Amino acid sequence: MTGFRELFGREPDGRWAAPGRVNLIGEHVDYAQGLCLPFAIAERTVVEVAARDDDRVRLHSLAEQDSWSGTIDEVAPRSPDGWAGYAAGVLWALRQAGHKIGGIDLLVTDTVPLGAGLSSSAALECSTALAVDELFGLGLGGTPSGRRALAAACISAENDVVGAATGGMDQATSLLGVAGHALLLDMRDGTDRAVPFAPADDGLALMVIDTRVRHRLADGQYGMRRAAVEKAAAALGRPSLRDATLAEVTTLDPDLVPRARHIVTEIARVRETVELLDAGRLPEIGPLLDASHASLAHDYEVSCDELDLACSAARRAGALGARMTGGGFGGSAIALVPVEQEDAVASEVRAAFAEARYREPEIRGAQPSAGAERVG
Ligand code: GLA
Repeated sequence: MTGFRELFGREPDGRWAAPGRVNLIGEHVDYAQGLCLPFAIAERTVVEVAARDDDRVRLHSLAEQDSWSGTIDEVAPRSPDGWAGYAAGVLWALRQAGHKIGGIDLLVTDTVPLGAGLSSSAALECSTALAVDELFGLGLGGTPSGRRALAAACISAENDVVGAATGGMDQATSLLGVAGHALLLDMRDGTDRAVPFAPADDGLALMVIDTRVRHRLADGQYGMRRAAVEKAAAALGRPSLRDATLAEVTTLDPDLVPRARHIVTEIARVRETVELLDAGRLPEIGPLLDASHASLAHDYEVSCDELDLACSAARRAGALGARMTGGGFGGSAIALVPVEQEDAVASEVRAAFAEARYREPEIRGAQPSAGAERVG
């Protein structure tokens, strides 16, 4: 296996890891100043990094079998493209924000599963950001407010360099995650609160079913949903749909009504979920997960047949609730399952996929885990 020394002719200064995420509920509301309830997962992207005393950036990924080399000043909208844009974009964004940083040599040694809807891109951005923060003494990684500033740079990398108009939930989760908890992210005031979420304590497991249908967020659908939501807010004379009411939503143009209704009802479901979790009533959140999926499938139209089938098969075999997670159009679904039903749910989902002649799904558990950290 190619190592850092073979690639760059010296040892790295350290290793940094950042997790992917699963969103428990609160989907497609981050860019509407809404509330989301994601958690960081155990799967991590790991980068080995050495600081340079010039402006050069040399990047290599073992998973992608690909390299990029350039200077920070050469980074620009849509360049570099592909995976390298996420890492190089972070350097660009930190410099844009006024931080004094130089170049780096970086090797991606491990990655959150790619394309599974578990935010491998945010994990790459956040592990890079934490490494650069430490190597150039920015002093941001040690405090929650500093980590929010790093998350902002990662979001800028994704929005401005990669060109994906994503809303910021993934980067905040990867940098701020707390083991055994989900994070209540308020995307209007930028605050977060750790909410207890430990399914095992209730004899439950949160299963992740990767449909292996590969989504692409940079393509048109995500941006079209975001534009519709912004248009709806403007039509109501509000800065966002955060405080819109269902009564107001019915006054919108008919094509905007279901989109806006999803935002309003989903934010309400997040509040209800948090109330149940705070009250120690985790097993009761199942119907809220199901309702979230129905809203995403019918009102927001970001699901797909494979995600719908994963959820319905999981419920049939005993899941308390199931929904797609992440941007949709493929990627993963989650199912809240009594531990003794886990095997039955996995078999039922696999059988349903085989019968429909879909690719075999990849099924794993998800552990609410800590955010990005130095690991060597
Ligand atoms: C993707 C985006 C997030 C969020 C989700 C949907 O993961 O990166 O910002 O919008 O989709 O909730």
